[in-house]
Amino acid sequence: MKQPHILNEKDQDFQIGILDGNIIQYDYKAILGYLKYKGKQLFGSQFKLYKEDELVVLKLLVYFLDVEDYCKALKIDLNKGILLTGPVGCGKTSLMKLMPYIMPHKKPYTVIPARNITFEFSTKGFEVMEKYGQNGYFCFDDLGVEPTGRYFGQDINVMGEIILSRHDLLCHPEFVSGSKRRIYSHCTTNLNAKELEARYGSRVRSRMRQLFNLIAFDQKSFDKRK
Ligand SMILES: Nc1ncnc2c1ncn2[C@@H]1O[C@H](COP(=O)(O)OP(=O)(O)O)[C@@H](O)[C@H]1O
Ligand SMILES: [Mg+2]
Repeated sequence: MKQPHILNEKDQDFQIGILDGNIIQYDYKAILGYLKYKGKQLFGSQFKLYKEDELVVLKLLVYFLDVEDYCKALKIDLNKGILLTGPVGCGKTSLMKLMPYIMPHKKPYTVIPARNITFEFSTKGFEVMEKYGQNGYFCFDDLGVEPTGRYFGQDINVMGEIILSRHDLLCHPEFVSGSKRRIYSHCTTNLNAKELEARYGSRVRSRMRQLFNLIAFDQKSFDKRK
């Protein structure tokens, strides 16, 4: 990718920064303009960027664009993934689906509902754990609403197990994939820390702290479906 600072769309190009050697000096206004354009294209003309979501969007942008000084200032660790939390309908899934478009120079992650993974587990069994636990770039969407996995009468906490594998993948990649390349994972959820612990147990919960930066919508964020 020769021009990661220019995003090409069918009807126009968006210059989201200035290329300075190997570094892009990003232009946040331009990025927000692009997000609005792309959001409308993907989710409909009612899509807009809300004033009250400004900080959440900024955190996601500086993280995904690797803007080190901003990440430091906002206490975001570039060596972890993202756990995006907030009430139902506040726009978590939409934002996570948008982010890959601003970083065409990076390998995109797939946004996959946790619910789909447990359903897949119920028919295919443990190979599904491998599929999502061992490599690939994913954002597990809506963690906590999925049913417990059942396979041949056995109850399995599928997402809990996958998170443990993803933790190994991030923290000890050489044992899992034979390569030192760190593989990040992201999640969205409307559960809070307490609820996550109740659902997945304290071991998974403590791994999640090492695996993710928490980025939270305001608890009062309203449902954008209305
Ligand atoms: N910024 C936005 N502007 C307008 N509509 C939005 C925005 N973000 C999300 N929506 C709409 O609101 C609904 C809920 O968004 P979604 O991303 O699924 O929320 P969540 O994942 O937090 O439950 C969807 O219909 C989506 O198209
Ligand atoms: Mg969602």
